Amino acid sequence: MTDRSAGKVVLITGASSGIGEALAREFANRGAAVALLARRAERLDALAAELHALGRRALAIPCDVTRDGDLEGAVGRVMAEFGRLDVAVANAGFGVVGNLADLSLDDYRRQFEPNVFGVLRTTYAVLDALTLSRGTLVLMGSVSGHLAAPSASAYAMSKFAVRALAGALRGELAPRGVGVVLISPGFVHSEISRVDNHGRFHPQAHEPSHRRFEMSTERAARQIVRAVSRRRRERVITAHGKLAVLLARHTPRLVAWVLERGRVSRTEPGRKDQAHRAGRS
Ligand SMILES: NC(=O)c1ccc[n+]([C@@H]2O[C@H](COP(=O)([O-])OP(=O)(O)OC[C@H]3O[C@@H](n4cnc5c(N)ncnc54)[C@H](OP(=O)(O)O)[C@@H]3O)[C@@H](O)[C@H]2O)c1
Repeated sequence: MTDRSAGKVVLITGASSGIGEALAREFANRGAAVALLARRAERLDALAAELHALGRRALAIPCDVTRDGDLEGAVGRVMAEFGRLDVAVANAGFGVVGNLADLSLDDYRRQFEPNVFGVLRTTYAVLDALTLSRGTLVLMGSVSGHLAAPSASAYAMSKFAVRALAGALRGELAPRGVGVVLISPGFVHSEISRVDNHGRFHPQAHEPSHRRFEMSTERAARQIVRAVSRRRRERVITAHGKLAVLLARHTPRLVAWVLERGRVSRTEPGRKDQAHRAGRS
């Protein structure tokens, strides 16, 4: 049986690590050509070389989703190389941690640049190509797009915004034949908890305490690819994520009570003077 991803062309932002990197492998192994976008060019080159060695089609395109014009340039390269675009995954992002009193407006703006405006830049850049192919736009939300934990206001606000965008775009893009799939992961084992409030990766940062709940990126990627091929409206990833979203929908006061009391331990990587406690899924 032919896989539904076979022969498709898939663009993924944030393909240099974590969920995006695993998604690139999963799509490529199912026969799709993948365009790998992120800032760290050496990681993209290494992943593209790994996929080429397996006989897969992959194109590494250094790109910053916070920079106007980068995404348009990237889509131009994809069209020149592969001639079409069927799936675009707006996945790039990171999490700003901290209580409002410890953050500034700049922290909130810095959070919204990749997580919200980067998603919008991606959407604008891929829209014509997806309309041509009657393709699928995939937006990376979060369980934090359903409930907002203390010390995660900036991140949760950005993910609530992504969920709102997905909801509005479904109706707007349906007449063009473009599907919109929202992915809302709980804790997935990636590099996100070792990225600081400025988007810098700290390889030596200690792992957070919620690791025992985490799903592997490979498993998450398999579930995401299935949701994309079935054009699901939304797919919540991880069992604890599904439970949290269900409770937030049906018992919001209970969830608020739990969040106000039992916070997940979380410290911004690279800052020893701070004892913020927050979740970032
Ligand atoms: N892991 C989880 O538990 C979890 C849960 C819910 C939602 N999510 C969401 O899943 C998405 C992927 O995160 P992850 O967990 O896989 O984290 P990750 O391992 O840190 O990966 C983040 C990716 O985003 C890229 N990125 C960050 N800023 C960028 C920019 N300005 N321009 C281009 N690329 C940029 C990074 O690449 P470069 O640094 O090379 O640019 C990296 O490839 C994020 O949207 C995150 O909010 C994750």
